[in-house]
Amino acid sequence: MKNKTIIVSNRLPLNVSVEQGDVKVFPSVGGLATGMKSIHQNSESLWIGWAGVASDEIDEITAEKIKKLSIKEKCVPVPLTHQELEEYYFGFSNRVLWPLFHYFMEYADYDETHWEAYKKVNEKFAEIILENLNEGDKIWVHDYQLLLLPQMIKDKRPDISVGFFQHIPFPSYEIFRTVPWREEILKGMLGADLLGFHTYDYERHFISSVSRILRYETNINSIHVGSRTVKVDSFPMSIDYEKFHNAAIEHQLKNEKTSLQIRIDQYKELVPDSKLILSIDRLDYTKGIAQRLKALEYFLDKYPQFTEKVRLIMLAVPSREEVPQYQHLKKEIDELVGRINGKFSTPTWTPVWYFYRSLPFEELIELYTSSDVAFLTPIRDGMNLVAKEYIASRTDQTGVLILSEMAGVAHEMNDALLINPNDDKQMSEALKQALEMPLEEQISRNKIIQKRIKRYNVDKWAEDFMEALDAASQLKEENLTRFLGANNLEKIIEKFNQSETKIFFLDYDGTLTGFHANPEKALPDEGIYHILNELIQKNVKVVIISGRGRFFLEEQFGHLPVDLVAEHGVWIRRKNPEWRMSQNLDTHWMESIRPIIENFVDRTPGSFLEEKEFSLVWHYRKVAPGLSEKRANELNNVLTGLLANSNIGVMPGNKVLEVKNAIVNKGSAANSFLSKPYDFIFGMGDDWTDEYIFRELPESAITVKVGTEETAAKYYIENQEKVKDLLRKFIL
Ligand code: ADP
Ligand code: G6P
Repeated sequence: MKNKTIIVSNRLPLNVSVEQGDVKVFPSVGGLATGMKSIHQNSESLWIGWAGVASDEIDEITAEKIKKLSIKEKCVPVPLTHQELEEYYFGFSNRVLWPLFHYFMEYADYDETHWEAYKKVNEKFAEIILENLNEGDKIWVHDYQLLLLPQMIKDKRPDISVGFFQHIPFPSYEIFRTVPWREEILKGMLGADLLGFHTYDYERHFISSVSRILRYETNINSIHVGSRTVKVDSFPMSIDYEKFHNAAIEHQLKNEKTSLQIRIDQYKELVPDSKLILSIDRLDYTKGIAQRLKALEYFLDKYPQFTEKVRLIMLAVPSREEVPQYQHLKKEIDELVGRINGKFSTPTWTPVWYFYRSLPFEELIELYTSSDVAFLTPIRDGMNLVAKEYIASRTDQTGVLILSEMAGVAHEMNDALLINPNDDKQMSEALKQALEMPLEEQISRNKIIQKRIKRYNVDKWAEDFMEALDAASQLKEENLTRFLGANNLEKIIEKFNQSETKIFFLDYDGTLTGFHANPEKALPDEGIYHILNELIQKNVKVVIISGRGRFFLEEQFGHLPVDLVAEHGVWIRRKNPEWRMSQNLDTHWMESIRPIIENFVDRTPGSFLEEKEFSLVWHYRKVAPGLSEKRANELNNVLTGLLANSNIGVMPGNKVLEVKNAIVNKGSAANSFLSKPYDFIFGMGDDWTDEYIFRELPESAITVKVGTEETAAKYYIENQEKVKDLLRKFIL
């Protein structure tokens, strides 16, 4: 059996309606379903989702019919009861996540029971996925209704590749942080190996929320989650270009006409220089439909010469009608259309033709090909595929696209007329410009956009996503072989037990102790002392190798027969109580560097300066994420510039920048212990300064990085909490 991709989304591409036992199937509307449909048709895939009817409102025979119809389309329906839909779909998905992620904070309606239902329904999806999963399958989860699903799958099947794509915006941290269940949501999403967003802005908002809320280590496009690396990237979704383009060509060659086309043609014949403006969306408050109508009103008031010369064909598909805001919007739009038509209509003309329904594909194409202007002005939109569909259907490359800059698609359409959907005047000017735009200009603008959509079509988009998912899964496997665990630890312990002479180099902060906002309080616990004593009993030479000052280390370990290395190797104390300096070091530079760091301390709340005998350390653990990286970079640049021609270097550590003599480092200090040969050498540390140890120790040494960043060490362990477990394995 071939490996398949399991596509999972709340809604299946087929939408079922049941009238007196009769099952009717319609294609689902919305960008997710229309965009993914062609991927599904042409690939080895199974689509799991809801078929559009409540499972407790149909009888068994009907349910069976729906199942059969779904199987034909390679789909598996998820049965959702009326109450589940009420709470999970209309409730949490569409009254919390949808408004919030589109920056409509005031519409968010938090309800604990809706959240509970959201979790339960996500679990239900997970169960059905697992029932349909075979070895080697990949899972591709879609959109905001299923944010918890990736982690639920990962918990049960860590071996399976899971991708997640979000079709709506990811809001800025300032918005996202208001959700009461923000941690759970982020953790749920991070179960995926790859997270995809339409634009770089959504991607960076997500990464920023993860680093601020969960405080996980994040890089440009990856996040460290325990032993896993989760990749995050942007993939602007596209459409099936050929389908729309070819349908438009066929439509123009066809002789028979639909009633809609006949009406359009009649209007055009009646007023030969008239123009059609098209607006198509689901009836959703994010789409800016009311603002669009008001802009038209403003335009007709300001430019009466266009009376009888333009008509807005406005299509709105009914959507989420049980949510109060959608009901209010419906009323508002009805009234606005009535008012505008009442105000401007003449005996032979009404400015707005309003259709509140879904159209079959052929009629959609008719509208795309007949309209001179597409007027798409969402207040917020994850992508907006209608814009791409309009351009793809313009076979002669004429037509003008007026597009909101708040739609994800605007990033790819610089040659459209970009507008701010809250600015009536600008929208009205754009309408005028569009209606008067010479054909040559229309063509030259559309050519560029069309070329891009043709090249980067929905197939290419899905292919890119899948390639990135494969790469992320590959990384996951490589990572697993480097993580110390049952599969590789046994051999290491065996070698340890067989060795006569053994030495352990152990870093202090982030390895033997966790981090503390006040470094003076980061102290080893009884467990660590016990382990060190046991290692010593087993004839291990223990070297604590740290960036800390010598007096601090002496206080913590002076009573044990261990060797100590302080200030990254400046001071070494072998078993006897005397400290030796490894080299004579200069301290004059400190006078000039201190005020610079102090200035950064003043400007950066939460940071402080630590003075050691031979180094200065700027600590920034408590500084707000974002500001901390910015200031650390800035300080690093300033200091590196100043110290360019000296022996003094700037070393970035774990939320610290340490300025110190560059000749000494933990690597050369460790090496000074190896004049006598050892059978078993072990080195463990967590930050950049420990990389010197990993690089300096001989090839046969067991080197272990605490944490998940890039390292020269051979092995990883997830975090500091795992250190004791690992060391205990040597003393059993
Ligand atoms: P969203 O996903 O928010 O609904 P998009 O613009 O990305 O917005 O996608 C809308 C999809 O629904 C498009 O593929 C479009 O063709 C389809 N659609 C929108 N309105 C209608 C309609 N009245 N009849 C049929 N299809 C529609
Ligand atoms: C948007 C969402 C989809 C959703 C679609 C239609 O495109 O991103 O997840 O399916 O709207 O909304 P509905 O609630 O009817 O599924």
